[in-house]
Amino acid sequence: MANNEELFKKIIAHAKEYGFVFPSSEIYDGLSAAYDYGQYGVELKNNIRNYWWKSMVQHHENIVGLDAAIFMHPTVWKASGHVDAFNDPMIDNKDSKKRYRADVLVEDHIVKIEGKIAKEVEKAAKRFGEAFNEKQYISTNPRVVEYQQQIDDIKHRLYPAMEENRLDDINKLIEDLGIVCPISGSKNWTEVRQFNLMFSTQMGSLSEDTNQIFLRPETAQGIFVNYLNIQKTGRMKIPFGIAQTGKAFRNEIVARQFIFRMREFEQMEMQFFVKPGEELKWFEYWKQERMKWHLGMGIPETEYRFHEHDKLAHYANAAFDIEFNFPIGFKELEGIHSRTDFDLASHQKYSGKKIQYFDPELNESYVPYVVETSIGLDRTFLAVMSYAYHDEKLEDGSDRVVMMIPPFLAPIKAAVLPLVKKDGLPEKALEIFDKLKYDYMCFYEEKDSIGKRYRRQDAIGTPYCITVDHQTLQDNTVTIRERDTMKQERIGIEKISEIISNRLKSNK
Ligand code: GAP
Repeated sequence: MANNEELFKKIIAHAKEYGFVFPSSEIYDGLSAAYDYGQYGVELKNNIRNYWWKSMVQHHENIVGLDAAIFMHPTVWKASGHVDAFNDPMIDNKDSKKRYRADVLVEDHIVKIEGKIAKEVEKAAKRFGEAFNEKQYISTNPRVVEYQQQIDDIKHRLYPAMEENRLDDINKLIEDLGIVCPISGSKNWTEVRQFNLMFSTQMGSLSEDTNQIFLRPETAQGIFVNYLNIQKTGRMKIPFGIAQTGKAFRNEIVARQFIFRMREFEQMEMQFFVKPGEELKWFEYWKQERMKWHLGMGIPETEYRFHEHDKLAHYANAAFDIEFNFPIGFKELEGIHSRTDFDLASHQKYSGKKIQYFDPELNESYVPYVVETSIGLDRTFLAVMSYAYHDEKLEDGSDRVVMMIPPFLAPIKAAVLPLVKKDGLPEKALEIFDKLKYDYMCFYEEKDSIGKRYRRQDAIGTPYCITVDHQTLQDNTVTIRERDTMKQERIGIEKISEIISNRLKSNK
């Protein structure tokens, strides 16, 4: 899937037209970077969440779940480092009045240089044909080497400056690179300033500082502060994990790109508590496990890649992202972080409570180390939608948009459709619907021609359509139509549930 703005626009329009995702408060012209999930969106989202929950909690004897409150004691965010360090450097263009993340402006500049390298490589590959050795070319061609050197120099200036909060140096970097505002084209920038991404609100009726609380920017801290509760009441032995899904809130500076970057979004996080010194072994284990989970959806490997962090978060000693090939390019979908004992040790310090594990094998207590897997539910939703969207030209010259959503995730598993709205067919179809609805999400519809109804089901990704026709009344058989191939076969009514269940299972 290429970087494809047109495709992205089509997916956004489709998501709205077919009840997957609507802009929040749309009748009031929407609210920036907030979205609502419609009737099919909520089903798809639930199915993705269930797939994650099952693979984490149900399939591991040593991982349990949690549902912590969004509101937490304000000291949690002091201890976690978010009050002091959960900042993005921002910069405004005085002409366009647009606000940007300063590091993203620089990274976009790097992407442009990478594009130049890719062009050189493409030209050389055409020139040399079969004999082309890409690795050798990249390391020896003077122009490519120079571009690579520019990228390295920029990274050498950007990341330490970010790490050490040297905002003047980021200003200077933007100036030296001659970066212009993508909207106004001007270099008329403000100074770079730090901007804390946490939303705050007041708890109780007094609006004094002491009552200020934050909307959690990650679900992880709810897990850390419950570590002792769960370890003790669940008699958990290290290594063990705690998994949680739920809303997180960030006042993102740049919040475009539909549900990719929102101010209110949902995370699915798992903290895996391990013996100190074993964290990198578990880090590697979870990297591979998480990639398997993604591939388990049936989306091919070529759509994913690992990306090692150049700049580590304030709590991590190793970090990889799993990136997905979105229509807007390869972007972060999930983070796997080795968080050391940073969080538990810090909560121990701030709360004054001992947060340790007594290891019976070592006969000693320690603060466990943590490996975290953290994935955005909305981004996974977008990944599935992006992969599923197909605009097809059929043999008869007509067009169809079909969402090839992995069947086990599809919002509706089967649509039950009487061929016509008379002759007793609706009654028979409703009889079938009333039985099937206890097995999985079904849909009943009798309005419009059967062709139109098939198209509507294709557009929402329903893998199977069951059609009741006149023959059904004679021999109790129906047709089952498969979404992707559009092939139909006749089966007995008593077999419908079993056939669909088997196909859904084999697809997973
Ligand atoms: N607890 C670690 C943590 O929060 P993160 O990389 O900041 O790490 C994890 O976030 C995941 O949450 C990301 O990989 C992404 O999928 C999702 N995410 C983060 N910010 C988001 C946003 N503004 N909108 C949608 N999803 C977001």
